[in-house]
Formats: sequence, structure tokens, C-alpha cells
Amino acid sequence: MTHRDEAKALVAQMTLAEKASLCSGLNFWYLKGIQRLGLPEIMVTDGPHGLRKQESGAESVGLNASVPSTCFPTASATACSFDRQLMYEIGKAIAEECRQDNVAVLLGPGVNIKRSPLCGRNFEYFSEDPLLSGEIAAAFIEGVQSQNVGVSLKHFATNNQETRRMTIESVLDERTFREIYLKAFEIAVKKAKPWTVMCSYNKLFGEFASQNERLLTKILRNEWGFEGVVISDWGATVDRVAGLKAGLDVEMPHVDDVHDQEIIKAVENGSFPIEKLDLAAVKVTELILKSIERKPYKYEQPSHHALARAAAAQSAVLLKNEGNLLPGKTGAKAAVIGAFAKNPRYQGTGSSKILPYKLDNAFDELKTYGLEADYADGYPLNTDNVNESMITEACHVAKDKEIVYLFAGLPDRDEAEGFDRDTMRMPENHVRLIEAVSKVNDHLVVILFGGAPMELPWAEKVQAILLMYLGGQACGGACADLLLGKVNPSGKLAESWPLMLEDNPSYGNFPGYPMTVEYREGLFVGYRYYDSVKKPVRYPFGYGLSYTQFEYSKLLLTKNKLDTTDQLTITCQVSNTGGVSGKEVVQLYVSQLNSVLMRAEQELKGFDKVTLEPGESCEVKFTLASQDLAFYNSDISSWQVENGEYEIRIGASSRDIRLTGSIEIVGDNSSNIPNMRSLTPGYFNLENGIDISDTEFEALLGRPIPPRNRTKESPHTINSTISDIQDKWVGRMLLKYVQKQIDAMSKDNADLKIMAEKMLMDMPLRFLTTMGGGMTSNQLRGLIDLLNGNICGIKQLLAHI
Ligand code: BGC
Repeated sequence: MTHRDEAKALVAQMTLAEKASLCSGLNFWYLKGIQRLGLPEIMVTDGPHGLRKQESGAESVGLNASVPSTCFPTASATACSFDRQLMYEIGKAIAEECRQDNVAVLLGPGVNIKRSPLCGRNFEYFSEDPLLSGEIAAAFIEGVQSQNVGVSLKHFATNNQETRRMTIESVLDERTFREIYLKAFEIAVKKAKPWTVMCSYNKLFGEFASQNERLLTKILRNEWGFEGVVISDWGATVDRVAGLKAGLDVEMPHVDDVHDQEIIKAVENGSFPIEKLDLAAVKVTELILKSIERKPYKYEQPSHHALARAAAAQSAVLLKNEGNLLPGKTGAKAAVIGAFAKNPRYQGTGSSKILPYKLDNAFDELKTYGLEADYADGYPLNTDNVNESMITEACHVAKDKEIVYLFAGLPDRDEAEGFDRDTMRMPENHVRLIEAVSKVNDHLVVILFGGAPMELPWAEKVQAILLMYLGGQACGGACADLLLGKVNPSGKLAESWPLMLEDNPSYGNFPGYPMTVEYREGLFVGYRYYDSVKKPVRYPFGYGLSYTQFEYSKLLLTKNKLDTTDQLTITCQVSNTGGVSGKEVVQLYVSQLNSVLMRAEQELKGFDKVTLEPGESCEVKFTLASQDLAFYNSDISSWQVENGEYEIRIGASSRDIRLTGSIEIVGDNSSNIPNMRSLTPGYFNLENGIDISDTEFEALLGRPIPPRNRTKESPHTINSTISDIQDKWVGRMLLKYVQKQIDAMSKDNADLKIMAEKMLMDMPLRFLTTMGGGMTSNQLRGLIDLLNGNICGIKQLLAHI
């Protein structure tokens, strides 16, 4: 009997109340079970780059101390590995830790697209490219689920910023939605069948994700065939019954029983069909049954630490290496500068924050290899302010050395869930240090840490740059391996690094207005924009150096004409022509020539990572179906392939194309392909930035631009934010009350305090009943009545206090 059949049989024995009870969590981290039917409660917990299981108090808000576990490099790093096998291994290892700690579902991976370098949570996401994000996520999911541990693919969908993430509406056109923001989810769902998907907080197409039927049922289930459970992001539920109708199976975390009662009432009064509740109950039961197949496991910390180290080394990107300064030699007279050398930046803050059982630092690891180096801190860790005497000391230490290793980047306080960065700049004290040291030593290697692109105005003044991103608990060891040539760098950038923030296509439309954020750049995200308008970037998508060289040759296409029934095989040869063993990420891009569509200069359509000894060659093979080149035609709500000539490009980065070929595609009937040049001419002329008029954006959207601001007259609802109600005395009192709650909740947790304070004004009132807010749903209703001028609300608000 399949799990599904078994689940159906069990649900047939459940009472209405039992079925409804399965649709919400037991507390913060557990789903409910039904004891009399032998269904246990199961634990779901964060993710994504390690296990963050709260040690105790599963009922309370989510940033308490967690059990020690392995902190792997975060997603922005591992995506640069372009290595599916490595992702599988990391997923499997994290699942082994879940098995040891009795966790049924890991809340990750996150595949939201990096629309802007400023998104505070970019470190938890993979790429600006949907194919890369989807492929890497699928491999990770397969690794986790190979252990009978589930994942929650998140945050579905268009949650591409932290600012006002609980209430904002992402405004974008259907084609961009399908081709860019849904694609990674689609690939991961179809390839790896995640046990659960987590819907996001935000609104899209006029409705919250948590009750968006088109998103959760029509697209996810009907079009993509998803059969698992949809879980809400924590506190993302707005109207529980509407959510259930739309396809949201489980609400997390637990709110008082009011929502379960609402479900029961809706079934009893006939406004919600019992069959739909049955289906949700079957899916949740099936999830529980699948998860009890999981066998306990005892993992070996040293082997997971070694995997974390290998992963960090495979993911790091060598951005610059003038005169082959790297790899350094252990015997050289060296200086190590920068507090990050001893106190690494290795993860971000928020729900993904791991408590590692071990933390390497590069300074000690370099020493272990025999490097004797003088050291200076160079900057204080707790402030961005410049400390002149520390810089002077660093210059003194760096002077006359054969090589200087300088560790810098973004401080901890810059990267967290709950808020976005407001600049792409590094802290002033790091920049000044690099500039000062570059003046006294011209053998300067900068080792960069941070989860997202930074402006590097000093890049021309230093000789080498090694980017570690946030490399997890073993990044110190990985640094030493790479700097001293024990491992050859092989990471390639999973996102473009623009010269400055203003170059980014979302600039001016990020993070948006109080109520909406407009994705005016449409399809032109990341390299799709930079390459289309030939904008200089600091480092392009797919770029990364090695200590060896690779040559590309012998491009072969099995045919020169491809129709919708067939496949094209593309092969080429890659040779290691340098002196050391190395890995190369071979990238396949396709460019459509003379399209009537709005189309990016090129799109990534495949990648492979190969390992080659010096002098060795291998064949790299890709297959392509014409469907892989399809665009989404919103007019007919379907994917379609445009006839014409397409260029096949094989490259070492999006700006380093080594081989080209061409193929004629016999696509679908071209007659109903909209001529976008006449409809939205601005999108064919983006050289001077994204300056799209409202009229044109509306033409792209196919609907009016939704209101950007609340009006004074709009009544308050559970979705009004704390900042929306500051013109009311009760709003100001509430602010004080919430501030107090935050202080109490976060008294031993500085991270939680920073995050909560930054998020405070954006918090919707519905959070007062979840996430430690301490109010009942009835009290909340009273508060809202009061805000809307109904004085009787005070009775309800004060009841039960
Ligand atoms: C985050 C999710 C996370 C959940 C549970 C939410 O605030 O957006 O990514 O899994 O909390 O910690």
C-alpha cells in the first residue's frame, strides 16, 4: 500500500475536528499528530545551510538557542560551486543531522531570485539565474530526501526583499513571473519532488501568497504536479479558510484554536467543501507517514566538518590574481591583516543562524600549514568607524612583507533576515584599510567575506582577490587551502557584481512603496540586463579564475535544425593546459537572434563542472530541446517557442564565450506571438537604465498599476502595520507594548533584538496573535475595531487580559 493510500484510509477514520487540527501546527516547530490513530507529532525546523533546531521551548518564538550542528556555507556561496554532486552531499549530510535530532522536515532551500544585491537575505538564496537556482536546489533536495527527511522549498513566491515582506505586493508581469521568479521553483518541484513547499508572506497579483489559489493550486499542483504539503511561512496566514481553499494545507506556527474552529464552522455551514479538507488532511497524514520511515542516525562531526571545508573551498571564487601572486608560499614573509582572519564572517543572521560545534579561523589554519605571519586587526569589529591607529599599525605590519593577506568584507550587522541593506558599499573602515595597505605593499591579497555583492572601488589597487562569500564553520580551513594552493579555486559567480548599486536594474524600484514594489525591469534581472545593454560590470555572471588554464575546442552540434519533437546534442572539448589539477565550470548560453520578443541577450541553458589533470581533456555534453528555449506567452497563457535562428554559446562566464554555433529552431506557430517592439518599445532601449513610463509598465503588466500608498480613509485591518497606525493614540500605545514584548523576548538574544527592532514598524497587526505577540484573535479584533473608531472594541481588547 502506498503512503497515499494508507493516509486516505486513516483520514476516513478521522473526525471533522481531527482533520481540521492537522491544518495547523502544534506550536512553533511541531505539526500535530493524532495519537489514537498512531500518527506522531513531527518536527519541522530551519534550514537551509545546516540544522537549526531550537534546543528547548519549541512552543516559543523561533530564535532561541539551537542544538550544535554543522554550519555549511550559505547558499550564495554554494551556488558558486555549480556542483550538483556537492549539493547532493551537503543535503544528505544535513539530513543525517536531522535524523540524529529527530527532525522530519528541513525548512529550506530558498530559491528566491536575487533581484537586488541589497536584499538582506540574499545570503540564503542561490542566484540571479533561475536555471542555476533550480538545478542546484534540486540536487540539494535529492540529497536531503534520500535520507527520508523532507524539505520545504521556500519562499513561494516573489519574496525578493525583506523590507515590508509581510504586507508588500510584488507587482510584475506574467511573463517575468513565469520565466524568472517561478522557474527555479518549477525546476526544483518537477525534478526533486520536495515533500513540502513554504508559501511566502508577500502579496502577488493582488492576493497574499498564503491564499493565492492560482499560485498554490493552479500553478503548483495542477500545472507542475506537486503532490506534497504547502506550509505557510511563519505567520503568513491571513484568512485561514481562504488559505485552505487556495491550497495552503498547514498554517505555521500554531495560533490559538480560533483558526481550526473557523475551518470546522466553514465545513459545517457548507461554505467549504469537506473534500478539500480531506485532501489537505490526506497530504499532511502522508507527510507524517513518510517521515516515520526515517531511521535514527549518529553522524560523525569530523566528516561533516571536512565536507563543510571542501564545500567552502569548492565554492570560493578567485576574482583577481595579478602576476599569479596566489597561491602563496608557506615560507614567504607574510602579514595577515583584518579581524575577520581570526573572527570569520561565515553565516548571516535570522532563522537560518546555526550554532556550529566548531569554528575554524583562517589565521590558525594558515599557521597549521606552517605559515608564519605577523598580524594586525586593522579595524574594530563592532563599528564601521575608522580607527586611524589600527590602520597605521596594519600598514606597519604589512610593509616589507613578501605577501599580505588582508581579510575584509561586510560585517555581521549588515546581513540579516528582516531588513535589507541600504548600500552596496563596504564599511568605511575596511575600505580605508585596504587602500592604506595597498600603498605600502604591492603584493596584496584581499580575502572577501559577505553574502552579497559589494562595491569594490579599490579593486584595481590590489593584486589578488579571493571571494569566500559566507563559507560556513570550516571557511577558515578552506581559506588556507585555497591561499596556499592545497586546493585550486573553481567557484564561478552565481550573480553579477555590478560596479555600483546604481547599475543594478532594480535600482530606483527597490524596495518600493509602502504597499507595492514594482518589478519594472521585467525579465532584465542580473546578467540578462548587464549583457543585453553591454554595461561594464566589476565581475560578470559565471566568472571565476583558477590556478590553471582551460582551453575550449571542438564544438559539435548534432543538427542544424531542431523542431519541437526532437533534441539537440551539443558537445565540446575542454582541456587543462596549465600546470595543476583543476575544475572548470563549462556554461551553455543561448541567444536568440532577431526576436520580435523582448529577450535578454542570452540565457544560461546548461552547465557542467569537470575535473582535469594537467594536460588532460574531456568531452562535455549538453542536450537541448526546443522547449528549453520557450518563452511564456501571456496572451495565450502558455509556453511557446519562437521560430528562428539561435546562437549556441559555450563559455567560461557570460562575458567569456569561447565557442559559438547556430541552430535553426522550427517552433510553434509564430502568428500569435505578440510584437513587443511596438507594445513596449522602452524595453528595447535600456542602455540608459530602466526608465519605463507608467503607460508602458501597464502595457507590460496588462493591468493598471496597483495603488502604491494607503489612503487615510482606508479602514484598518489585521494587515495594517505598526507604522500605519502611528497617527492614533492606541497605535502609539501599541508600539510601546510591542517594544516591551520585544525586550522581554530577546533579553538574552542580541540577534533577535536587532531583527525585531528593524522589523517592528513593518509588522502587520496579525502578528500580535502569533510570533510571540501574546494577543488572542478576539483581542486583535477588538483592537482593530478601536482603530476604526468603534469604541466598543475596547471591551474585546481588554477581555482576558
Ligand atoms: C522565515 C522562514 C523560516 C521561518 C521559521 C520565517 O520568518 O521567513 O524562512 O523558515 O521563519 O523560522
